[in-house]
Amino acid sequence: MIEVRQLGKVYGQTERYLALADVNLHVAAGEFVCLLGPSGCGKSTLLHLVAGFETPTTGQVLADGRPVRGPGRDRVMLFQDAGAALLPWQTVAENIGFALRARGIARQEWAERTDRALADVDLLAHRGKFPSQLSGGMRQRLQIARALAVEPKVLLMDEPFGALDAITRRRMHVVLLDIWQRTRQTILFVTHDIAEALILADRICIMSVGPGSAISHDIVVGIDRPRDLADPAFAIKAREIEAELMPDLAPAMPRSA
Ligand SMILES: Nc1ncnc2c1ncn2[C@@H]1O[C@H](COP(=O)(O)OP(=O)(O)OP(=O)(O)O)[C@@H](O)[C@H]1O
Ligand SMILES: [Mg+2]
Repeated sequence: MIEVRQLGKVYGQTERYLALADVNLHVAAGEFVCLLGPSGCGKSTLLHLVAGFETPTTGQVLADGRPVRGPGRDRVMLFQDAGAALLPWQTVAENIGFALRARGIARQEWAERTDRALADVDLLAHRGKFPSQLSGGMRQRLQIARALAVEPKVLLMDEPFGALDAITRRRMHVVLLDIWQRTRQTILFVTHDIAEALILADRICIMSVGPGSAISHDIVVGIDRPRDLADPAFAIKAREIEAELMPDLAPAMPRSA
């Protein structure tokens, strides 16, 4: 579904910064892949390239076998900063309706899709408010609802739950997994939270520190769903990933067999 080949990205004209160098990634249709890595390693950059908001310096991105040349209806991006993506002059419900229209969804489906998505993120009671009347977490949930309502083939999610409180975040994990299991969308999900990646993903791709960041490890989670945080398999995987992310700390942590 998504094929990233020898992708490189340099930012800037005079002050050049090599954000990504030689990133290779394959995400199969219906797969849930988490990108995990430290701040500034290039996770958002990679997502923007897959979304078509940035152009590669080298290499290419394919979506469903076709080269990505810009944003497309098949891919929806959830931005790290929710405020940037919402229309301030439209209500909560209108923001979703706008996205549905832009994606060519039939008008008779708008009301049902909007209400279902708002219910999923617990915003139904706020459907008539404007984004400025919402809290930061509510704005983020609105952005999530908008992406869910569209049900694109590919969901590109950039730390979508980072700004949410812990309880809401856990609820959103359940909601997202439910929807994913129903729709079988392809999801590329950025996080820097190991536990979140382990709860959600089929595979976890770890990115190395920049400049010239690439995917350094590709780990299959392989724990049955629904996943239980108390499952010992969970702790073993978490430690394995921690050791990859923070090799300097590895001697201090007993490594599991
Ligand atoms: N538009 C830009 N112009 C110049 N440099 C940029 C631009 N966007 C990102 N960068 C640089 O590219 C690198 C990767 O940034 P990116 O936003 O992809 O990181 P990230 O992994 O998403 O970090 P975080 O976890 O903090 O969101 C950083 O060093 C950043 O300074
Ligand atoms: Mg980012």
